Amino acid sequence: MINQTVHDELLAKFRAHYAKAPTVVAYAPGRIEVLGNHTDYNEGYVFSAAINYGTFFAVAPNDLGKNRVVAGDLMHEVTFPLASATPVKEDTWANYVIGTVAGLTVIRPQTAGFDAMFLGNIPLGSGLSSSAALEMCTAKALCALWGITADNVTLAKIGQKAEHDYAGCSCGLLDQISSLCGEQGKLVKTDFRTLKVETVDMGADVCFLMCNPHAKHALVDGQYNSRRQACEEAAAYFAKVLPHPVTALRDVSWAEWEAHHAGLDPIVAKRAAHPIGEDERVIEGAALLEKGDLDGFGKLLNASHASSQTYFENSHPEIDRVVAIAQATPGVLGARISGGGFGGSVVVLVRADQADAAKAAIAKHYQEQTGKPCDVDRIVPSKGASVL
Ligand code: GLA
Repeated sequence: MINQTVHDELLAKFRAHYAKAPTVVAYAPGRIEVLGNHTDYNEGYVFSAAINYGTFFAVAPNDLGKNRVVAGDLMHEVTFPLASATPVKEDTWANYVIGTVAGLTVIRPQTAGFDAMFLGNIPLGSGLSSSAALEMCTAKALCALWGITADNVTLAKIGQKAEHDYAGCSCGLLDQISSLCGEQGKLVKTDFRTLKVETVDMGADVCFLMCNPHAKHALVDGQYNSRRQACEEAAAYFAKVLPHPVTALRDVSWAEWEAHHAGLDPIVAKRAAHPIGEDERVIEGAALLEKGDLDGFGKLLNASHASSQTYFENSHPEIDRVVAIAQATPGVLGARISGGGFGGSVVVLVRADQADAAKAAIAKHYQEQTGKPCDVDRIVPSKGASVL
């Protein structure tokens, strides 16, 4: 589900800026993370969905021997070389494009430059993966322009490497995989060890709300990376004390965590508890969805948020407030933080026939309690990235 107004605005701005039409336009959506927090880089499982907000990337070749990209909201242009581009220190939004270009030119080095512009409607810093959407629409458009055939996993890894090397965030593959593999009306269930992706129909009885209280979200400030390090340290410990092979926390059960966590630094033990518990919740959630037990599935969302608060400490007071308001709202089956954390958005699973009332009630109660607005939007699980 693409936003035609944003698309048309991008095309008009592209023509006005470059005095030509784009050769290729691609689109990539943001994502919600429904269940399975910080499990992706622990080789575990996640339920997510591509959403009805996304980013468009328009591009045409040039004969300048360099690449140009414009952020269509700022109408600001950044120029970078065809090969071996280093991250820029100003206009850091360009690093997601530059990093993706770096990955694609490893597959096929380029001798000519391009002129590009992007524009989207994913609220920035909302935990809806605007950066992955930018990487994936860049990748889709440039693959089409350059005649590169690459599968989704290859493209997702190029986006992930752009995050690692150009933005300083040691993220997993969740955001890119969700943006690429989404399907209309469906959840994406990914096994991040095998990278097998399935889609799951939730039916028409429930839908999602996304609540953004504009709490600070800065994955790049080191918190995300330190959580990942703690998980890796814990995995190395469990590999020593458990009788079976452990290459990631995916291989550790909750019972094993309970039996052995006392041997870990207490903070590292708490951090490890979260993805271990989340993996079990995703597995249980898949079984509940198969039985059509949406109430049970919603309760797992609530348990997931409690685990974020207790063990991973990646929530935020304003996010906790929204979660508490949502969980007490009629029609809501479950609510939790979505994505990396430390701010961002809350994903709410709600009965479809009560969604409008719940949407209004959550915004009203948040405003009453804080004097500040909370944006609440209905989210439609949507088709993944494509060339238009
Ligand atoms: C961010 C990262 C993902 C994933 C989530 C947490 O969105 O980019 O790779 O780790 O946080 O589940």
